[in-house]
Amino acid sequence: MRIGLLTGGGDCPGLNALIRAVVKQGSIHGHSLVGFRHGWRGVVDGDLFPLTRDHVRGVLPLGGTMLGTARFHPHEDNGGIDAVLETLKHEHIDALICVGGDGTLHAAGKLAAAGVGMVCAPKTIDNDVWGTDRSVGFDTAVSIATEAIDRVHTTAESHDRVMVVEVMGHHVGWIAVAAGIAGGADMILIPEDPFDIDDIAARLRHRHRSYASSSIVVVAEGATARPGTLDFVAPEGPYGSIVAGAMGERIKIELQERTGFDTRVTILGHTQRGGTPTATDRLLASRFGVAAADAVDAGATSVMTALVGDEIKLVDIAEVAGRLKEVPEDLRRVAESLY
Ligand code: F6P
Repeated sequence: MRIGLLTGGGDCPGLNALIRAVVKQGSIHGHSLVGFRHGWRGVVDGDLFPLTRDHVRGVLPLGGTMLGTARFHPHEDNGGIDAVLETLKHEHIDALICVGGDGTLHAAGKLAAAGVGMVCAPKTIDNDVWGTDRSVGFDTAVSIATEAIDRVHTTAESHDRVMVVEVMGHHVGWIAVAAGIAGGADMILIPEDPFDIDDIAARLRHRHRSYASSSIVVVAEGATARPGTLDFVAPEGPYGSIVAGAMGERIKIELQERTGFDTRVTILGHTQRGGTPTATDRLLASRFGVAAADAVDAGATSVMTALVGDEIKLVDIAEVAGRLKEVPEDLRRVAESLY
């Protein structure tokens, strides 16, 4: 078989580990592989190159994606689906392995419905892909955010300050909650649970009056205020992505004003998406890559590799696309218990 591989949407650490595993396992099965540049854009444009074991030597610990990526979805572009089908026919591609988050998987579902052999693997630091306990990139992002919170703690204590730390997470607060718990945040604001700024300010005043002289407030960039409490929504950029820093800055201003405490903001932004993947992400990516190559070899289609408990399973793309995996109530309760 001739198998095409692409990475779509926002990048994350661990993508190269996944590509390497697909290429190695695909070669063991006797298939040839090609990589499409810049996600679905490369499939539409016919922009591809052969991928052999030589190409993936040494890429395991590297961040980013050697294939490049783009926030481009062929089903949203006039004629995009037809152009994809044309490229696959012209290049004699028998099946696609598509690594992405919700947007990329949505496009994959459309192509699978059009008859393309399609196996997907989930990646996103946001960890919001439905059907899998973990997506590639999340563990690294949480490690980076936790280290940042640790560092902010000591300077907050020295200056008796309130520190707002904004992490990524447009629709869900997985990074905020995981890194917030691991880093000992005193308050965590996430999209799943709209906040009341007066309530947050009152809790900070109480903390500082009673037992603390500094506080760490972790904010997911997509956190929203309860209706009627704070008239502000973080703006969105060109691809519908949220503009990093907007909510963190605003919360800093509002808390400083309401409490009178010296307040600073740290925006972690794309540092959470860059650099070398953790061992956990390399392991997950490698398992997904081998499973995806095995699935294509076995003739599976319209499926996504998923971590369910400790096992790698295949789940139906139709069940995954368009659904968001939010932070469950019990994990949020753990965070609140530790404030
Ligand atoms: O891929 C997920 C993510 O990192 C989100 O957490 C964030 O909102 C968005 O991507 C940022 O996208 P961009 O890199 O296009 O600004």
